[in-house]
Amino acid sequence: MKMNHYYADLEESYLFSTIAKKVEDYQTGHPDSKIIRMGIGDVTLPLPEVVVSAFQAAVLEQGTKAGFHGYGPEQGYAFLREAVRNYYMSYGVELEMEDIFISDGAKSDVGNILDLFDRDNQVLIPDPVYPVYRDTNLMAGREIVYLDANMENGFLPLPDRRQRADLIYLCSPNNPTGAVYNRAQLQDWVDYAREQEAVILFDAAYEAFVSDPALPRSIYEIEGARECAVEFCSLSKTAGFTGTRCGYTVVPHELNRGGFSLRKLWLRRQTTKFNGVSYPVQKAAAAVFSLEGLAACRAHIDVYRKNAGTIVETLNNLGIWHVGGVNSPYIWMKCPRGMDSWAFFDDLLERANVVGTPGAGFGKNGEGFFRLTAFNTNANTEEAMQRLWEIYA
Ligand code: MLT
Repeated sequence: MKMNHYYADLEESYLFSTIAKKVEDYQTGHPDSKIIRMGIGDVTLPLPEVVVSAFQAAVLEQGTKAGFHGYGPEQGYAFLREAVRNYYMSYGVELEMEDIFISDGAKSDVGNILDLFDRDNQVLIPDPVYPVYRDTNLMAGREIVYLDANMENGFLPLPDRRQRADLIYLCSPNNPTGAVYNRAQLQDWVDYAREQEAVILFDAAYEAFVSDPALPRSIYEIEGARECAVEFCSLSKTAGFTGTRCGYTVVPHELNRGGFSLRKLWLRRQTTKFNGVSYPVQKAAAAVFSLEGLAACRAHIDVYRKNAGTIVETLNNLGIWHVGGVNSPYIWMKCPRGMDSWAFFDDLLERANVVGTPGAGFGKNGEGFFRLTAFNTNANTEEAMQRLWEIYA
């Protein structure tokens, strides 16, 4: 038996599983500690009521002869794709219905899209980075060139024209740093991708956190992006769907490479390997885009924004360098007192009972940095910041 030996190139466990195990061990040894979790980017607010009602009604329909739905349309129900199209339209991006594919979340599609590309492609990935981009390419045995994101470039690297690239990963607002590209910077990336005949894989999972209208929420706000970019989005952070699972991927019909339409290849891939998202989940997702749904999601995001503000204020008062937290739920901070990322993780867990994510887990440039998320409750975030203040002031 020959196994996929490229798995040997991966860390033994996925970053967030390693952290979960460490925290569980600590909690077992200290059952009375009140641990505040600001590590994995998982939401804490429940689904909005209008979403739950739509979800329940669809489940009940499935139990009736008249309302039962079997296999759904391959790209997702038209009612949901239309809702997604209207959502994009609300901030000025016009998409064709046929270019929108409903999925069970951005993470799966970000990994699955690699089915379309030969192993022998030059992949460009910023460092630090959401580990899924790196690990899915390592699993396929693909060579990766890392692009340095650091304090000097505000964790927003720009293209280096001497570097060849076929596949380029961008995430804005960024995970893990919370930094956000402006229009001119994204235009530079789009121009570069077109010069290189490369494809940008653009992760827009945090677009709903952009409050500054001058900042782009979608790569398709940038001229020429339809000819070079695939966009992945998710309802996980927008609407609290981390446990419900629904997202969407846009593969524009204008995007062709090597004599192939990427949209056609993706359709072929999805119809072969994926049977779609369940009808009740798609109904729940469509309710997110109703007026009531959007208002409820905005209210939830405001709660998380308040947390981000609390974290940013505490770090400012402590004089700790940081980025993010303004148009993003992530705050990327320099570890205090010159600690490395894992030393700070342990110190924070043991002395403050607060969990964050060590920057080193996102790549070599993450060493010495740390990520906090704004997804806990207002009360817990305030308490966590009070504990941080007491220890590091
Ligand atoms: C994170 O903490 O980076 C997120 O949970 C990633 C994800 O959405 O998979």
